[in-house]
Amino acid sequence: MPEPNFRPVTAADRDALARFLSEHRWPFHARARLDPAEAAEVVAGWDLEGQSRAWWLERDGRVVGLLRVDDLDTWGDPSWDLRVAEGHRGAGLGTAAVRWLAGEVFGGWPGVQRIEAQTRRDNLAMRSVLRRCGYVKEAHYRRGWPDQDGVVHDGIGYALLREDWEQGRTTPVDWDCE
Ligand SMILES: CC(C)(COP(=O)(O)OP(=O)(O)OC[C@H]1O[C@@H](n2cnc3c(N)ncnc32)[C@H](O)[C@@H]1OP(=O)(O)O)[C@@H](O)C(=O)NCCC(=O)NCCS
Repeated sequence: MPEPNFRPVTAADRDALARFLSEHRWPFHARARLDPAEAAEVVAGWDLEGQSRAWWLERDGRVVGLLRVDDLDTWGDPSWDLRVAEGHRGAGLGTAAVRWLAGEVFGGWPGVQRIEAQTRRDNLAMRSVLRRCGYVKEAHYRRGWPDQDGVVHDGIGYALLREDWEQGRTTPVDWDCE
């Protein structure tokens, strides 16, 4: 499967971003379905140039996903959101994007020591991608993730350490330090 192309999102893309959000269902996000007005409101709240960056994922010249990373300040712990378009999930795009992002962030921001990711407990595809890309589970937020229908899920926190990424290893969490 060829690697996707990562095209930087610019402030001029806000309408396209809103369209992308409203055209697909996002079953593990706080709001699974956004109408165009709701999507525009969400996108208006996104910082696209300051401490954040975003990229379109493209395959064969078509947009197939969106990757956004926040908190890219020197001493921060960046975290990201990944959305693969319906019809393109389960085809390796998520894995390619999460791998690519580590090189981009650790390569471009030398002060960043770790990249964080949170997902819902039942988002098994995301969790599988995270593990495959070297992320280690660090937190389990019991009943920490309410959805749109009032169901409260558990959330799971992962992180990728720069040193693990550089050395191609995964360091387990020291859970027995109490
Ligand atoms: C989660 C998401 C980003 C993953 O990207 P993707 O391109 O679908 O992921 P990949 O194809 O690289 O890998 C998915 C892996 O999860 C596995 N998987 C998919 N659905 C699964 C399920 N229901 N149960 C268990 N594993 C599952 C796949 O088998 C695959 O693993 P494998 O290659 O070992 O078989 C994508 O599915 C998506 O955008 N979903 C909707 C938005 C979302 O949930 N974003 C994350 C918010 S935190």
